[in-house]
Amino acid sequence: MIIRRAAPSDVDSLRRIHNASIRRLCSAHYTPEQIHDWIRAIKPEGYLKAMEAYEFMLAVETYIEGFCILNTEKAQVTALYVAPQSARKGIGRTLIREAELLAGENGLCELNLKATLNAVEFYERVGFLRREALSFLLPSGTGLMCISMTKSLDIG
Ligand SMILES: CC(C)(COP(=O)(O)OP(=O)(O)OC[C@H]1O[C@@H](n2cnc3c(N)ncnc32)[C@H](O)[C@@H]1OP(=O)(O)O)[C@@H](O)C(=O)NCCC(=O)NCCS
Repeated sequence: MIIRRAAPSDVDSLRRIHNASIRRLCSAHYTPEQIHDWIRAIKPEGYLKAMEAYEFMLAVETYIEGFCILNTEKAQVTALYVAPQSARKGIGRTLIREAELLAGENGLCELNLKATLNAVEFYERVGFLRREALSFLLPSGTGLMCISMTKSLDIG
């Protein structure tokens, strides 16, 4: 598996993985309406903007297996999604490690994120600590319950 930067030609594959990941890996923790509105909020231009503004990394084997977006200005991991058929194979951990390396190169000493409920245990496994519960508002006005989490990069 390699880690590489996302390019505009990846948008269709990203959209497919993103949709499938939400449907298959998140639906036990949210209602069908929340999942529907979450997927509806995903726009191709959103990926292109993120490629310009943020660190947008892909994990690629034969196909794209997962992606991670790091906003270095906010020291925030704004997205991490693994294709459902590639889950539990260490791809999420590899992408987070990459985000931590990039954060370190950018002089950051802590990362923060808003974890969807299905992902909280994963983030704890890779060293993040729970902070507080909050509602992430989708463009439709639907809220997604999340947990804010942080990881100090000094302690590895
Ligand atoms: C959360 C997600 C990124 C994890 O990616 P992954 O590639 O499956 O995770 P990994 O295989 O790297 O797992 C790393 C560790 O976390 C554990 N883990 C992964 N998913 C877990 C889960 N849902 N519940 C409990 N533990 C989990 C693994 O067992 C592994 O444990 P280990 O330390 O014993 O080896 C993936 O499930 C996903 O894309 N979910 C849907 C999208 C999402 O919720 N993204 C986060 C939005 S904030």
